[in-house]
Amino acid sequence: MSDRRPPAPSAARGAEPAVQEHLLLRAEGLVKTHHGEGAPARAVRGVDLTVRHGEFVAVTGPSGAGKSTLLHLLGGLQRPDEGSIWLEGRCTDSYSEARWAEERRRSIGVVFQFFNLISNLPVADNVELPALLAGRSPRQARAERKELFAELGLDGKERSMPGELSGGEQQRVALARALVNHPPLLLADEPAGSLDSRGTREVMRLLSRFHRRGQAIVLVTHDARLASAADRVISFFDGRIADDVKLGGAAARGTAISDVVELRPAADRD
Ligand SMILES: Nc1ncnc2c1ncn2[C@@H]1O[C@H](COP(=O)(O)OP(=O)(O)OP(=O)(O)O)[C@@H](O)[C@H]1O
Ligand SMILES: [Mg+2]
Repeated sequence: MSDRRPPAPSAARGAEPAVQEHLLLRAEGLVKTHHGEGAPARAVRGVDLTVRHGEFVAVTGPSGAGKSTLLHLLGGLQRPDEGSIWLEGRCTDSYSEARWAEERRRSIGVVFQFFNLISNLPVADNVELPALLAGRSPRQARAERKELFAELGLDGKERSMPGELSGGEQQRVALARALVNHPPLLLADEPAGSLDSRGTREVMRLLSRFHRRGQAIVLVTHDARLASAADRVISFFDGRIADDVKLGGAAARGTAISDVVELRPAADRD
């Protein structure tokens, strides 16, 4: 494992080292091109990003902008062609698949855009499994899972298989699975994409509660209500960060969580 420290970005050169210590995640110069059947898709074209401990960052932008790809890079699910990622100051360049998997078990919860639940396991087991893998006792794993199910309105669904649940219910199970180990960083890709407005409010309440406890969240969403709960909204456009706006958080602004912020268009940046 490398101890290489991230280079100071040009704007922050000369910043106190103590400031750097607060960074939970730092990405420099991320580039990722997908090579599929058609023309290569330049999904991420040079992204610098920092996330502080406890910060809630929403990433919004049009379909195909590269939001999911960026999230996959940040969680070690895909490797960048160029650039580096530091987690709590540790460079991940040399991380193996197994090391990234351990990181995701311990400190990065991931909610995928398309759930990725284990289809032949009851949903309760889908949520308890990561807790057991992280070394919790079966009793602790069950208690954590029960609390999350109650909060997410999933009581009574414990023994259901993922395929027997609605899209919205599966999405909430995926969120419970990502949160069961209380990871310091949650990467969530459209966690309310299949939910009605009541379901979206429930997800929002849960995310806000974890955020208040000091958990950092990077949330990809098309939903302006969800984005408005964040401290910062990043507009992602054509593989790049087009805008990065501090909101101050819903609580600081005194707005109701159902209030909608107007997001600035992505194209008005130099
Ligand atoms: N595995 C892949 N192979 C080939 N191309 C891909 C792959 N994954 C993504 N792409 C392409 O990369 C680009 C960015 O995709 P990505 O899924 O990151 O966008 P997105 O912003 O998450 O979109 P959406 O809002 O629709 O989820 C798109 O042009 C997409 O077609
Ligand atoms: Mg996506």
